[in-house]
Amino acid sequence: MNIAIFGANGRTGSLLTGRALAAGHTVSALVREPKNFSYAARTRVVEGSVFDPAAIAATLRDTDAVFSALGAHSPVKKEDVLERAMPLITAAMEQYGPSRLIALGSAGALPTSLDKQPAWRRWIVQKIVYNVFLKYPVASQVDQYRVLSHSNLDWTMVMPPMLTDGPARGKLRIDPDALPRNGSRISRSDVADFMMLQLTNPQWIKRGVYITW
Ligand SMILES: NC(=O)c1ccc[n+]([C@@H]2O[C@H](COP(=O)([O-])OP(=O)(O)OC[C@H]3O[C@@H](n4cnc5c(N)ncnc54)[C@H](OP(=O)(O)O)[C@@H]3O)[C@@H](O)[C@H]2O)c1
Repeated sequence: MNIAIFGANGRTGSLLTGRALAAGHTVSALVREPKNFSYAARTRVVEGSVFDPAAIAATLRDTDAVFSALGAHSPVKKEDVLERAMPLITAAMEQYGPSRLIALGSAGALPTSLDKQPAWRRWIVQKIVYNVFLKYPVASQVDQYRVLSHSNLDWTMVMPPMLTDGPARGKLRIDPDALPRNGSRISRSDVADFMMLQLTNPQWIKRGVYITW
């Protein structure tokens, strides 16, 4: 397949890029600073910002599926990366294709995200973590879900809790309805593996899916 990756130089995006190349796919990568992108020689690099519709169109050209692993630099600043990028990406895909979009989101994107947590944990995570410390990233994910779910695309929003570095464990809990009980973290490696599997899995098309250790 030819795969477009937005956020290809990020921590999860570079894992996705490496996995896609290792699986024999070709990759079209939108990056802001190609000189810092370790896969530059092995990918079709589009240099630019995801806020530029022309750069998005160039990244999507001749691709069969799209990964987004976009995100803001700081969880405590209002950067509006997803708020600005996802309407542009979904509009471009609706216009030129492709139709398959696998986007990295986050638990917290829906009001039902914490329904399977013990009451004490639900209160702490919602009132203190989501409403205070992570209010901007959570607002971005709420908006990303809204944009994807109003699109005509074959989208999947992968919704993990806190991301860690380090190896994949390969043993995930997967739930389409809410974050599994006491789920609190998962590695970016496991997230990238799960997103890769979605290239050929229709099960979670047009919905969000929670994954956690
Ligand atoms: N951190 C967590 O615990 C956690 C938990 C759950 C979900 N998530 C979500 O997971 C996603 C990715 O996480 P991560 O840690 O892999 O992120 P990351 O390393 O910060 O990567 C984000 C990527 O987005 C790119 N980007 C931002 N603005 C851009 C723009 N205007 N044009 C082009 N590219 C742009 C960055 O490009 P540059 O390389 O040029 O900066 C970077 O490649 C985020 O949306 C986050 O909300 C995070």
